Amino acid sequence: MTQKSFPIAPEFLAAANVTAEQYAEQYKQSIASPEATDAFWAKRAELIDWIKKPTKISDVSYDLDDFRIKWFEDGELNISVNCLDRHVKNNPYKPAIIWEGDHPSLHKIISFKELHEAVCRLGNAMRKLGVKKGDRVTLYMPMIPEAMVAMLSCTRIGAVHSVVFGGFSAESLGNRIIDSQSKLVITADEGIRGNKRTPLKANVDRALDMDGTGSVSNVIVVHRTGNSVPMSGRRDIWYHSLVDGESQHCEPEVMNAEDPLFLLYTSGSTGKPKGVLHTTGGYITYALSTFRDVFDIKEDDVYWCTADVGWVTGHTYATYAPLANGTTTVMFEGVPEYPTWARIGHIIDKHQITVLYTAPTAIRAMMKEGDTFVRESARSSLRLLGTVGEPINPEAWDWYYHIVGGGKCPVVDTWWQTETGGIMLAPIPGTVAMKPGAAMNPLYGIIPEVIDTDGVALDGAAEGNLAINSSWPGQMRTIYKDHARFLATYFTEYPGYYFTGDGVQRDEDGHYWITGRVDDVLNVSGHRLGTAEIESAIVAHPATAEAAVVGMPHDIRGMGICAFVILKSSEKATESLKAELNRHVRSEIGPIANLDAIYMVNVLPKTRSGKIMRRILRSLAAGQYVGLGDLSTLADSSVINELVEVVKIER
Ligand code: WT7
Repeated sequence: MTQKSFPIAPEFLAAANVTAEQYAEQYKQSIASPEATDAFWAKRAELIDWIKKPTKISDVSYDLDDFRIKWFEDGELNISVNCLDRHVKNNPYKPAIIWEGDHPSLHKIISFKELHEAVCRLGNAMRKLGVKKGDRVTLYMPMIPEAMVAMLSCTRIGAVHSVVFGGFSAESLGNRIIDSQSKLVITADEGIRGNKRTPLKANVDRALDMDGTGSVSNVIVVHRTGNSVPMSGRRDIWYHSLVDGESQHCEPEVMNAEDPLFLLYTSGSTGKPKGVLHTTGGYITYALSTFRDVFDIKEDDVYWCTADVGWVTGHTYATYAPLANGTTTVMFEGVPEYPTWARIGHIIDKHQITVLYTAPTAIRAMMKEGDTFVRESARSSLRLLGTVGEPINPEAWDWYYHIVGGGKCPVVDTWWQTETGGIMLAPIPGTVAMKPGAAMNPLYGIIPEVIDTDGVALDGAAEGNLAINSSWPGQMRTIYKDHARFLATYFTEYPGYYFTGDGVQRDEDGHYWITGRVDDVLNVSGHRLGTAEIESAIVAHPATAEAAVVGMPHDIRGMGICAFVILKSSEKATESLKAELNRHVRSEIGPIANLDAIYMVNVLPKTRSGKIMRRILRSLAAGQYVGLGDLSTLADSSVINELVEVVKIER
């Protein structure tokens, strides 16, 4: 925790949407009582075009015997109308999406009018394929405009989308299709990033070979690279031939505020990934409202969120919030290093980007290449910078602030989760001097608490677990088909609170510093991976008997993956087996689950009740062999020496 703070540059302050006093006053008001919170959200809901305006604001109880979370429950609306039709009326030719292709020679500008037409065409086509309100549609797409078109088309007709990140394997895709029982899959022939291709359609074919995927009746395929892919009989349809000839008018489905909007699978500390369910009215109100607050949005902003649509950031802050607000959103298909590490700066100059929202891992990767690349660009259009996904280390913060932003753009460090739907903590720009590494302040209506291990909420400067003592409209409503797991994960450990799974410190000034996950979830490049998921992928390999996975420090990705593996007695620990295990895990989960270190051991440190003591493994993985803390609960303390020997030799 460095306490050095950076005041907001005067030129930013002069034009900021809110002052420190306004934030303080409005925040205090927004949490004064449940009625005051409702009044705040009733006002914010006026940013939405409702078909039927809600008369009820919230109905929430975290009491497990009488649990409910409802926002705007008698309101009716359609999200695509909010993202498109209302802007087509006011400003039809304003760019909705600026798409920058993988190769720098490719870009497209799509107006709100054009986007509206494309969404209507696909919406009509999906209806003809029999997709109805409430049906699930899986999207497995590259970063191309059709991905946003497909999301919005689902909302047009009331279908529930489930976007699966294009970097996930066929196996992961298949499991998500099985869980959601999707009727339709939308994909592309191939994805292309950094001039490397991903076989998306081939992965869909493999996923649909899995048992339990019989719910899928069609696959729509966008022609992206043009390489030939097998198209199977009546099931597979080319996107362009499907939408060709469809009408550009499509009657929007009337949705209740609490109707499901989307599912997004995310890793937990145990078991398989869970389908986080968000609903319609609360999600879009929260997305739009927080977007305006945190990014100090102005009418002519060109806003670029670098997140892939496969993650929640790509849902809320690349797609729904900017479009609902009528803001131009930039979508980039490629990677920061192609053709050179100067690419991000060139894109900023080319499209005159004003607000950039990215992840610490991307900042560190660029920083490592030196300043020369980024200095190839002027970046004079930038006025605000944002980060998300993990705590940002002070060195990366400094480089982002001074080099990328030239010392004139505030950095908003935004803390939130797939579950929260939108940003919960951030230094609203212009209202507070920034402290590198701190997510600073709660947004309106959010009451963060620092809770100790006994479940007591602490006052003043304190350290503990982060829980939220309130509800907010963007909150997830359930885990798809597993409400019991939802209650157990978030509402049971600290009764009456939403438990985040993160550790936190509150400093003397009342500012919040996230310290990382307190459960068995890893944060790799700002993305979540469950240790249980990786362990079960490892033990699915025939050579292995048992595995324990922990995080380890990684200078670019923030956290790397370290596996301690016990082989079957017939197997020999070799470098080639390690490489094979890594390949195996990457193909089971996806390349994001790369094993950075594999230690082949004979024992794992366990308690007398047989629980693996990951704390010890985490220390060893970080190269710390002494001061391992309390070892009294270990069943056999001699295992420590053995483990230390293995790690020392191999590290
Ligand atoms: C976890 C949520 C929703 C954003 C993308 C990740 C960590 C997120 C920050 C931040 C410190 C952060 C937390 C959180 N995290 N933002 N600004 N500072 N940590 O979404 O995959 O649902 O992961 O990411 O640990 O619980 P996610």
